[in-house]
Amino acid sequence: MYPSTSDDSVRPLTLQDFARMRDDGEKIACLTAYDASFAKLEDAAGVEWVLVGDSLGMVIHGQPSTVSVTIDDIVYHCRATAHGLQRGFLVADMPFLSFSTPDEAIFNARRLMQEGFAKMVKLEGGAVQAEIVDFLTARGVPVCGHLGLRPQLIHKLGGFKVQGRDDAVAEEMVEDARVLVEAGADMLLLECVPNSLARRITEASSVPVIGIGAGPDVDGQILVLHDILGVSRGRRPRFVRDFLDGAGDVESAIRRYVEAVKSGEYPDSLHTFGG
Ligand code: KIV
Repeated sequence: MYPSTSDDSVRPLTLQDFARMRDDGEKIACLTAYDASFAKLEDAAGVEWVLVGDSLGMVIHGQPSTVSVTIDDIVYHCRATAHGLQRGFLVADMPFLSFSTPDEAIFNARRLMQEGFAKMVKLEGGAVQAEIVDFLTARGVPVCGHLGLRPQLIHKLGGFKVQGRDDAVAEEMVEDARVLVEAGADMLLLECVPNSLARRITEASSVPVIGIGAGPDVDGQILVLHDILGVSRGRRPRFVRDFLDGAGDVESAIRRYVEAVKSGEYPDSLHTFGG
């Protein structure tokens, strides 16, 4: 059964709305969600782009990384999250090694859209993923490319670190962004990159660019829900702000986050990687 929309006057957001917001310079408010109850609060608070991220491996399952998350996990949480949304645009992460070939990618994207009710999939990787992005988008699957820190590479990277401080890596990321958009990516997400690099990629891209730890000069911001509520385990990343602190309740905290993103008040210099 398709998720019910109890209020027919609410118009669900579309990719075209995000393109318009980008053109108008209106920041896009994005947040992760993993179930219907929090999705409903996020919808009420004005979150526009709702990601069922593979961060669920860490914040829901208590694992040290996202590597163990499966496509079944994302389908399950996506389906639940979809039931809480009326206006928010639902995006599903493609987990580690779930998109290694075009056939595998389309099989899993179909599951995320038909069983999980996602409207877009997000996948980590640069130019090497161009074939997959082209294959998916040519068949009607909206795709968001994920560049910068790619948590699925944790065992190669050895830790969650800022990416692109080095000139050669920065140039490669600029090229990756260009190639992904040329292959059909409808949006990009940049994680943990210096402000100046995020600005450069955003200015060069024809599609909306969402940042997490990527500074203020991108088209929208995303954070992990548990991080903005101060309930994440482990060390808090530099770019995270606890919006529940002083807010009183969860919906007010999410509303504060949305307002701070929309006004440009978040992220400030304390929550970015300058340069
Ligand atoms: O999985 C996730 O929550 C993400 C965020 C870091 C954007 O990809």
